[in-house]
Amino acid sequence: MRISVSILGADFARLGEEVDQIRKAGSDWIHVDVMDGHFVPNITFGPNMVQSLRAVTKLPLDVHLMVTQPQKYIQSFVQAGADLITFHLEAEGDPAQTVSMIHGQKVKAGISIRPGTPAEAVFSYLPMLDMVLVMGVEPGYGGQQFNRKMLQKVRTLKQKAPSLPIEIDGGVNAGNIAEMVQAGVEICVTGSAVVGTPDYTAAVAALRAAAAV
Ligand code: DX5
Ligand code: ZN
Repeated sequence: MRISVSILGADFARLGEEVDQIRKAGSDWIHVDVMDGHFVPNITFGPNMVQSLRAVTKLPLDVHLMVTQPQKYIQSFVQAGADLITFHLEAEGDPAQTVSMIHGQKVKAGISIRPGTPAEAVFSYLPMLDMVLVMGVEPGYGGQQFNRKMLQKVRTLKQKAPSLPIEIDGGVNAGNIAEMVQAGVEICVTGSAVVGTPDYTAAVAALRAAAAV
């Protein structure tokens, strides 16, 4: 199991320090939530932020695009230093084409599905993907409650493509991470369970301890 801590709830005025704390806490990846105010109601940041992050960390940058037109921004995020780009199946553009645009830039590609999108909708793209991201909440905001129905979606995907890594995002905490891992999740995104807590190292350790049970 890997942990990808989301910087969504970080203090952006001290982003370098926040990333350093996340690294010291033992996060495997940095999860970067890009929101365009259109695909989701919230607005966050763009490629410039990824470029700034690239300059301060060697950890893989796991870029989650919650934007309506992902194809328009792929090149910018690749140039900024993204290691893995995940876009939404529900966004505009032919998903297979979007995946090949990402792969054409030698970057790993993932597809994410909102809670209302069935696992079957992504089946035909699985052979071309490096990862599937199952949303545990409606995308847009941190600090929401995990929808347990998504565990079945993880199992269905795992059955269809046993070797494809599955990432879960939204509402992950020490109380529910074990059932996610048991369902077949390899990468757990975590925002509010770590960022903003008094001790990031203790928070990541608590997640790992809970996941191992
Ligand atoms: C939600 C984002 C998540 C969010 C997770 O739209 O995609 O990555 O930051 O935050 P928590 O862990 O607080 O749900
Ligand atoms: Zn995310």
